[in-house]
Amino acid sequence: MLAHLLRLHGISSVVIETRSREYVEHRVRAGVLEQGSVDLLERTGVGERMRREGLVHHGIQLRFSDSDHRVDFGALTGGRGITVYGQQELVKDLINLRLDAGEPIYFEVSQVTLRDIDSDRPIITFVHDDTETTLGCDVIAGCDGFHGVSRSTIPDGVLNAYEREYPFAWLGILATVAPSSEELIYCYHERGFALLSMRSPTVSRLYLQVAADERIDDWSDARIWEELQTRFTLDGWTLQEGPIIEKAISALRSYVVEPMQFGRLHLAGDAAHIVPPTGAKGMNLALRDVSILADALTSFYRTGDTASLDGYSAQCLRRVWRAQHFSWWMTSMLHRFPDSDAYQAQLQLAQLAYTVHSRAAATSLAENYVGYEWGTS
Ligand code: DHB
Repeated sequence: MLAHLLRLHGISSVVIETRSREYVEHRVRAGVLEQGSVDLLERTGVGERMRREGLVHHGIQLRFSDSDHRVDFGALTGGRGITVYGQQELVKDLINLRLDAGEPIYFEVSQVTLRDIDSDRPIITFVHDDTETTLGCDVIAGCDGFHGVSRSTIPDGVLNAYEREYPFAWLGILATVAPSSEELIYCYHERGFALLSMRSPTVSRLYLQVAADERIDDWSDARIWEELQTRFTLDGWTLQEGPIIEKAISALRSYVVEPMQFGRLHLAGDAAHIVPPTGAKGMNLALRDVSILADALTSFYRTGDTASLDGYSAQCLRRVWRAQHFSWWMTSMLHRFPDSDAYQAQLQLAQLAYTVHSRAAATSLAENYVGYEWGTS
């Protein structure tokens, strides 16, 4: 996305990716785009297929104490909403745009190293097709995820890290069955959290809270459906089952490094911060980081002044920390913690009831879910 935005501003870039094109186009990831992300994609010419295939939602359901409660985003946020569109679909669209424009993108690179990042000529070396390449750069964007090399290139002592690990994980499945609900259902249950989402009118995406050390091999398809049926039980409502085509367990973590930059290296997305998935903020934060970085780089090339690049981290972090709090809050309200007692469960239920019955509380959830925009409300 950064490379796409830069190209619109006449700035050339080289994209290097360690995985294959096939892998990144099919890796199942997040699926919820905030209104601001949708607007950004549409404004910059990436929205065509998303508009056709994405599912626009104006609310979610919170299911607890044997009933559903709708949080109406449309009514509470002045008509804003979210679009369900798989991250790998967006990745496909962006790769196609890049290739159509004839701009460089290298897949399956290895031995990536960054040098001289605190000079005004940072250098990247990498191997592609058995050939070593060296790039002299003005700026490097570290968009290489939590496990990428960029962040670890920054010298010790520069970054402050803030971190929280959660004592549970998510088991996620894709199933070829029509979603049993038009809207996402976030379900609080004494056996743990469950989430019903979707990818299309014929593909459901469902999640179960499981223990942090749970192994996917211990979860047969039958066991997964049985547990989903138990947690989603509601009179008059049926969870439709279908063939499971993908299943995996992922850990939950909150993480931020500050600052998100050092010298001419700027970190974006998961390279700088991770949120637990509850509330679906990860992809949106990454899109927002690179939008801010593209604007800063445009100003840098126009004026020769690094002031806006220097302010990159501070500009991102305000939004990053808002999303950190929201994701932590949603996670804390909806999951059963291993050390939780009856008192803790009552507090969670009290919070859920307040969230759906108070217009002020519901508005807070809604405006964060569709993406809180500083300065507009
Ligand atoms: C999805 C994931 C989330 O974490 C969430 O809060 C909502 C939806 C999804 O993958 O569809």
